[in-house]
Amino acid sequence: MDNRAVFVVDTGSRRTKAGLATGHAPSVDFLSTVTPDGSVVGDEAAAVPDAVWPVHRGSVRSWEQVETLWRSAYAKAEVESAGSVMLVAEQTLNTKAAREHTAQIMFESLDVHAGYICVAGQLALFAAGKTSGVVVESGAGVTTTVPIYDGFPRREGMQRIELAGEDATAAADAWLKRNAGSNYNGSLDVAREFKHAVAVVAPMGLDVSAEGAGEEASFELPDGTAVTVPYVARALIGSSLFDGTSSMGSVQHAVAAGIETVEPQMRDTLYATIVMSGGNALTPGSCERLQAEVKQWAGQRTAVAVSSPPDPVSAVWHGGVIVTTVGVFKKMCVTKIAYAECGPNIIHRKCL
Ligand SMILES: Nc1ncnc2c1ncn2[C@@H]1O[C@H](COP(=O)(O)OP(=O)(O)OP(=O)(O)O)[C@@H](O)[C@H]1O
Ligand SMILES: [Mg+2]
Repeated sequence: MDNRAVFVVDTGSRRTKAGLATGHAPSVDFLSTVTPDGSVVGDEAAAVPDAVWPVHRGSVRSWEQVETLWRSAYAKAEVESAGSVMLVAEQTLNTKAAREHTAQIMFESLDVHAGYICVAGQLALFAAGKTSGVVVESGAGVTTTVPIYDGFPRREGMQRIELAGEDATAAADAWLKRNAGSNYNGSLDVAREFKHAVAVVAPMGLDVSAEGAGEEASFELPDGTAVTVPYVARALIGSSLFDGTSSMGSVQHAVAAGIETVEPQMRDTLYATIVMSGGNALTPGSCERLQAEVKQWAGQRTAVAVSSPPDPVSAVWHGGVIVTTVGVFKKMCVTKIAYAECGPNIIHRKCL
């Protein structure tokens, strides 16, 4: 394979980040939504009432529409898909069938020259400059935890929680409906902005409703009125991943349970290298709370450290870029010739 640049694509439940690996950031970043006829894609489609979201809680609902998102990503980035090399970030615990669909679109529809699929969490770990650790990827629709040792994701320790940033947006929307009345226009874009401004993850063990637990915040609605948000509301909107009230359990339990599935001699490294990425990890207090909670699980003798990569929202994409710079990347890829000889099944043999 020659020195073709690689097109890296991370299709999230909410946003698609993509671009050539030669860039410093994804050159395109658009809402993962399309109109049913596929004619309008991205932020413009979001305004159309019957627009659909082909990726729901990290899982693909329509491969045809995902193909439309990928075609659009190439077009918006002004890159020709035919003859390109494509690296796709896949969701944690992806099914074999989903990988085969991805390969089919790459080679049979987009006509790429070569392609590769990597688990999104693994890429986020590389973006943090590490090859061993546990990644907590918390985006818009799903939160996943992935233990990785020496660059190899450990499937048996992966966990998936259907609770993430858009659940917090829904909680913010409900609070505004109850407390801002007719001053709130009911737009989820406003609720999301409100959430970004006020939501916090409460420290472990804090009684958030106690007097003096934390500071209130103020937010100006688009109509110019200001709402005052008590600390208890800020914490309830921001802390659901940790509070264990979800039937899916808490993120700290998922991290600890995942670590306990790997060989005992690897566990200290993993406890000491926990990386939080994805847009939802930007909620203030996330890393501190996760560290305190996991520490409680791990016990006093185990060192626990939680950090975030420099740009949590685009970490998966940046990690993809790092993979393409590894000397053996080209050998790792599935080529069009190999795909033509072996069919979609080859993806399971070549991709980890
Ligand atoms: N500064 C911020 N504070 C809190 N949340 C934020 C912030 N910035 C973005 N988010 C939230 O992060 C989420 C989007 O994150 P991201 O782009 O990682 O998701 P995605 O990749 O589209 O979805 P997924 O990976 O779950 O399929 C949204 O819910 C958004 O509100
Ligand atoms: Mg994502």
